[in-house]
Amino acid sequence: MSDSLDLAAFPHDFLWGTATSAYQIEGAVAEDGRAPSIWDTYSHTPGMIEGDDHGDEACDHYHRWRDDIALMRRLGTNAYRLSVAWPRVVPGGDGPVNPKGLDFYDQLIDALLAAGITPSVTLYHWDLPQVLQDRGGWPVRETAEHFAAYASVVAERLGDRVKHWTPLNEPLCSAWIGHLEGRMAPGWTDLTAAVRASYHLLLGHGLATQAIRAHVPGAEIGIVNNLAQVEPATDRPEDVAAARRMDGHANRWWLDPVHGRGFPADMLDVYQVELPQKAGDLETIAAPLDWLGLNYYFPSVVADHPAGPAPYADAVRRLGVPRTGMDWEVDADGIESLLLRLTHEYGARKLYVTENGSAYPDVVRPDGSVDDPEREDYLVQHIAACARAIRKGAPLAGYFAWSLLDNFEWAYGYDKRFGLVHVDYATQVRTIKGSGHRYGEIVRRHGARARRAA
Ligand code: IFM
Repeated sequence: MSDSLDLAAFPHDFLWGTATSAYQIEGAVAEDGRAPSIWDTYSHTPGMIEGDDHGDEACDHYHRWRDDIALMRRLGTNAYRLSVAWPRVVPGGDGPVNPKGLDFYDQLIDALLAAGITPSVTLYHWDLPQVLQDRGGWPVRETAEHFAAYASVVAERLGDRVKHWTPLNEPLCSAWIGHLEGRMAPGWTDLTAAVRASYHLLLGHGLATQAIRAHVPGAEIGIVNNLAQVEPATDRPEDVAAARRMDGHANRWWLDPVHGRGFPADMLDVYQVELPQKAGDLETIAAPLDWLGLNYYFPSVVADHPAGPAPYADAVRRLGVPRTGMDWEVDADGIESLLLRLTHEYGARKLYVTENGSAYPDVVRPDGSVDDPEREDYLVQHIAACARAIRKGAPLAGYFAWSLLDNFEWAYGYDKRFGLVHVDYATQVRTIKGSGHRYGEIVRRHGARARRAA
């Protein structure tokens, strides 16, 4: 199938990938020495997850990873973003390494490379070992130090083959949703703890960045943030101020410190929480990076909401706009403006869209096929917006579709499906959806064009 996508905009060596995370797909939570994470605890707490789902089996990727790499080959993608489970590799949070845990990722990396697929490794996609939570979790400094030690272990083992690294995925979710809004593990609603967690996550990012550099010559390290294109719901000064606060909370708090600009002063005023700062921390947090990762799903339209919680701005539901099955607005222009903002305001030298995708209720036809025109449309619209951003100067080097597989969508359980590949959870049968075929066709078309141009 053809479309009007401007594929010539994408560099010849562009990475076309898919992304997943450990707890969302692996399953095997009690196998080969893995210890529980905060998500095992949270998901087994009645009432926290839609349908009381959990990740015990998930997509059984721990046993089916060979089939999943074969799926990537069928899609034709040349990159894969995965996360390593800290509680599989260092089950005690700190201290002894679990060789079987490391072996799993070792063989996965070898097989990806043998399939011509570049691995991009995330070290923390929210699965803190529960033992560290019991000792205080991210609100305490030692967690950042243990994270760096775990990063060293993984980098030392995989660094001869893995060059793309990111310590953290979406620290905003860990800090704000996990500690302030209580909608993710560990499920707290405490602003002081949330601010402290955000600080130690960024400190952990800086320490882990140093640890990776020490072990991996030529490592390309970035941070992955889920940024928001924020707009005020009206032009009332209160709503405009609320949008500024939301921008600080969702974007600048995470970007400014890693760019050596410190924590935004206006947000320190909003939170009124003292940072647990020690001499040298800001320099550590600002360890030089090679790229910035953008996870983009939907724009954020906000109104003033003095009753809280911080940042005292509430999402407003616009009428008459298309929405995904998550009830998230579809707005591809947001990805373009965020890529350009990272380019111009933060001077990014290299960018990746590290996640982008949509959930819709899928229907499996009697012949077993899954047609998902809305997801396909979302994908094409956002890839087109990436092409526009590149044409306007964004140094975009790769796009990772979220997600390879339908998987455990956190508090929403298995009900929300983001995969380019459908998973029948009863049988674990995988079926490439229409959107997956379309993505494969785009990737192949771009590859053919790049070869012709070479
Ligand atoms: O499934 C999540 C992923 O773990 C992090 N980014 C957003 C996705 C969709 O909600």
